[in-house]
Amino acid sequence: MGNIVILTGAGISAESGMGTFRDADGLWTQYSIEDVATPGGFARNPGLVHDFYNIRRIRAAEAQPNAAHRALTRLQAEWPGPVTIVTQNVDGLHEKAGSDGVLHMHGELAGALCQGCDHRWPAPPDMSVTLACPSCGAARTRPDVVWFGEIPYHMAEIAGLLDSADIFASVGTSGQVYPAAAFVQQAREAGAHTIELNLDPSDIAHDFDEVSTGLASQVVPAWVDDMLAGAAGGQAAQADPERPVT
Ligand code: APR
Repeated sequence: MGNIVILTGAGISAESGMGTFRDADGLWTQYSIEDVATPGGFARNPGLVHDFYNIRRIRAAEAQPNAAHRALTRLQAEWPGPVTIVTQNVDGLHEKAGSDGVLHMHGELAGALCQGCDHRWPAPPDMSVTLACPSCGAARTRPDVVWFGEIPYHMAEIAGLLDSADIFASVGTSGQVYPAAAFVQQAREAGAHTIELNLDPSDIAHDFDEVSTGLASQVVPAWVDDMLAGAAGGQAAQADPERPVT
């Protein structure tokens, strides 16, 4: 029944209270990207950056997955082929919903990274510039998230997945940040059927074969139901070759 690759963005976590970046009340209306999401911003004022991520880390720890996250977990469990979630989100809600093998291309709030020796360890809720690296002892700890101007994680693995995708779905992303915004084109070139599931058509909605608009907690479970019904029908047809395929 084919390989499914799903890209998720902040919109899938909006109904879990995590907020988004570019909506009317988004994070980038409250903070400057340059100040809190770039290496230069961290060098200039690491305390401000830690405060920004500490607030989000604590909010993420309290947040619960919603029906959209849970529907993707169900798809992973019941679809007769591989289902890989590639997320731009750093909130850990896919894992809380029971999904596995999630590729965090922008890193995770739950991770700490030492700028001195590249050691990674589980982040404490409250990080600060004085937090010493458990490996080298340097007080050069940063959140293990990918900032603007840095290379996202898992890109080679993601490229391989897109090149062998049969179905590519994008959930809750505005399609304004690359390289994630180009994934749909790479999947199409590989022959995948592509669908966007989003509150409103994104800037790249025209790149998709299908666009389903609405709240993620509604359109994602509906899409998963359709997919699994189709898979069951396909399997039934395979199981009973005499039955005419309607
Ligand atoms: N259900 C579905 N979609 C929603 C919902 C919802 N409840 N609420 C918002 N959306 C949609 C918005 O319409 C928008 O298209 O989610 C999208 C969120 O877009 P952004 O705020 O730009 O977030 P995202 O696309 O994930 O940003 C990508 O940019 O700033 C960087 O690193 C950051 O990972 C982030 C990346």
